[in-house]
Amino acid sequence: MPIQPVCHCSCQHSEGDECYKRKDIHLHVKTAASAPGKIILFGEHAVVFGESSIATALQLRIRVKIEDAERESFNGVYLDARSTPHAFHALRLSGRSGVGISVSSDIPAGAGLGSSAALSVALIRALRPEIEERELAELSYRVELAAQGRASPADTSIATHGRAIYISSRETAEELWSIRGNEVTWHVSHLEMKQIPVVIGFTGIQAATGPLVMKVKTLYEKYKLVREAIAEIGLLTEEAVVALRRNDLVRIGELMDRNQRLLTVIGVSSREIEKLIDAVRPYSYGAKLTGAGGGGCIIAVTDNPERVREAIELRGGSAFITSIYSEGARCENE
Ligand code: MEV
Repeated sequence: MPIQPVCHCSCQHSEGDECYKRKDIHLHVKTAASAPGKIILFGEHAVVFGESSIATALQLRIRVKIEDAERESFNGVYLDARSTPHAFHALRLSGRSGVGISVSSDIPAGAGLGSSAALSVALIRALRPEIEERELAELSYRVELAAQGRASPADTSIATHGRAIYISSRETAEELWSIRGNEVTWHVSHLEMKQIPVVIGFTGIQAATGPLVMKVKTLYEKYKLVREAIAEIGLLTEEAVVALRRNDLVRIGELMDRNQRLLTVIGVSSREIEKLIDAVRPYSYGAKLTGAGGGGCIIAVTDNPERVREAIELRGGSAFITSIYSEGARCENE
């Protein structure tokens, strides 16, 4: 655990020496941690109802630094449940107090790339550096639930474990952990797969996850068609596990296209998403929205990433070509 004795007074004495101003020697404990963003390859929204989902970890990360402070703050703003909910709940759930938190991130916020879950995970990891993966996943999910409302543990579990996970309400032999919430028990397993060539396209429209999750819940309760679509997403995700293990890009692409049609049925696609998907389809095995939808990002599996990037940019989106099988949460040297 990176612990550094530092005094934050202005007299610039050496570490551990007496401070002229405060007339004492005071030690500030600093820790830092990071966690990755994510894409959902298959099964977003359906996973909230206990259907299967597959998520992988991006190279884009969020970094959190913690140090002792007289007043609790988040990037210089005093903590409160409304304006800084993740930090507020992370402190409460980790049992820590009296800290200043600073955050920097490469993950665009509100883009469906898991910035909020990565923040929850990095916060807990920095507040409790010795925590085990299983407890980190559980506590970060509790932070996410408190901050977002209804949620599955898919985003926080992938930000914790990294690489790729398969999440389902059915038990598996390779289970990493199980988590209960919203009357569902989710079983989370590592998914061994090859890096597949994915381009991410951001519509430029930020969409909050919580309201979209609540919209799908309302439609699910009202319409049989939506309940059937959710169940079908679960089934095709099971097929996708097999296709990913075989690295069968053609099958993966077909399943992504089917998943996208079903996401449209449950009301989370948008004009901007469809515009980007239409643009990349001629150069892709398959494409779909990723995350909560309503804006945010699409993903396309392709042999021709530069052509897909161009197609996205021509339609006014921004493209990222990045690793989608990256390391999970880790402590950092601050
Ligand atoms: C958001 O990244 C994924 C959703 O399925 C919500 C969740 O799982 O909590 C839309």
